Amino acid sequence: MNELYVCKVGELDDGGVRIVGEPGHRIGVMLHDGEYLAYLNRCPHQGGPACEGMRIPQVQDVIDEAGLFVGQRYDESDLHIVCPWHGYEFHIKTGEHVCNSAVRLRKYATVVREGGIYVQY
Ligand code: FES
Repeated sequence: MNELYVCKVGELDDGGVRIVGEPGHRIGVMLHDGEYLAYLNRCPHQGGPACEGMRIPQVQDVIDEAGLFVGQRYDESDLHIVCPWHGYEFHIKTGEHVCNSAVRLRKYATVVREGGIYVQY
């Protein structure tokens, strides 16, 4: 197993992302709710730089007691990574596509050691 240095702890803000690795094998490392997450920066759709996309919460329909649609709201507990090329959305915590769990970003383990963040691949 190989390890790749990302940055020092504290250099990556919550919500931030660092792209590391070599051309053809770039990995996006992000800090989300205090957890380091790492995904191959290649969208399973057509290879777009998914980790560089915006992040938005899940949109939920709001249904009243009578079963009528009354609006929508964000579910802040379920943040999505949005691929900038065509808009595929992936759950940030798992890398799974929001509509098809068989489609997913390749996930890597991260470790924090001696003040540094590393991704294992
Ligand atoms: S390449 Fe990512 S949505 Fe198409």
